[in-house]
Amino acid sequence: MHKKLYIPGPIEVSPEILEAMGTPMIGHRMPEYARLHKGVTDKLKQLMSTKEKVFLSTSSAFGAMEGAVRNLVGKRCANFCNGAFSDKWHKVTLSCGKEADAFKAEWGQPITPEMVDAALATGKYDAITLIHNETSTGTMSPLPEIGEVLKKYPDVVSIIDTVSSMSALNIPIDELGIDCCVFGVQKAFALPPGLAVFTASERALERAKTVPGRGYYFDFLEFLAADEKDNTPSTPCISLIYAMDLQLQRIFAEGLEQRWQRHQEMADFMRAWVVQHGFGILPAEPYRSVTLTCATNERGVDLALIKKQLGERGIAFDDGYGKLKGKTFRVAHMGDMKLEDLKQITTELEGLLQGL
Ligand SMILES: Cc1ncc(COP(=O)(O)O)c(C=O)c1O
Repeated sequence: MHKKLYIPGPIEVSPEILEAMGTPMIGHRMPEYARLHKGVTDKLKQLMSTKEKVFLSTSSAFGAMEGAVRNLVGKRCANFCNGAFSDKWHKVTLSCGKEADAFKAEWGQPITPEMVDAALATGKYDAITLIHNETSTGTMSPLPEIGEVLKKYPDVVSIIDTVSSMSALNIPIDELGIDCCVFGVQKAFALPPGLAVFTASERALERAKTVPGRGYYFDFLEFLAADEKDNTPSTPCISLIYAMDLQLQRIFAEGLEQRWQRHQEMADFMRAWVVQHGFGILPAEPYRSVTLTCATNERGVDLALIKKQLGERGIAFDDGYGKLKGKTFRVAHMGDMKLEDLKQITTELEGLLQGL
């Protein structure tokens, strides 16, 4: 039995998208691929409101996240950490042999502009990493305010993960001053995993030229050279790029404003349901994620049992990530999901909660 995915990634994939992945294969050095590649990167630029370079990486998000620190950290990196994925990014930065410090907020708290300002004011750092939407806790940090702070530090390259937020709300990356924006496609893009997208500003590319030990697979300068021919340095996941092409067409057919509105409506619905049913929400307003709700288990229900019972009913449910397992549950509301999908899981949950 297929379990319908309500976990915060991978997300349920529409049949049309799976079908697009079955498009007959082409060679990545054929003109057909260059046309596909250009169509996808042009649409991504439009979606992200950027005139900078957009590259396609055949990897999960962490491939490009590791690549970004390998290419862009020259002196020392400030890793801002407020959950499992940002903690991991700090470890990844160190494992690449980079000098780095972790600036930690409690899980469920955002990274604030004040934290960023205080770290950068030391003058020790030439790069930062930050996760816009910490999926482990459902917490969204305020990018516009952080972007204002970054303007004070023109020598600092900003590397921002929008893995679980890109396309669900407006993230105009040039206006926000993001030098390198990285995301995977298995979250709000509702595609199967295996493709990551990253951007690189002029400043980022200039930095990469000065940083040794960039490796090959994720070398930004290799991506830049391949981009001249609307191509990638190594063989890309062409099937997923076909799927991305169709998904971008669907996104623009829905309309960006409508898409953002749909995500906001789903978030409002889920948050209201959680509170009405005696649970809490981990982050405070206005830091709650628009793509998932991380509910706190105020009722002390056996979430592992709920997960098992929902599984038997064909629903994949998340009972918390890492140290929050059993203490929280997360419901995704992103990608192609609609209010009716949320009504389906909440109706099932209501039945199970009554039976406990
Ligand atoms: C915010 C965030 N960053 C990074 C990752 C890691 O992505 P991947 O497993 O695709 O490398 C995830 C995965 O859930 C995530 O939610």
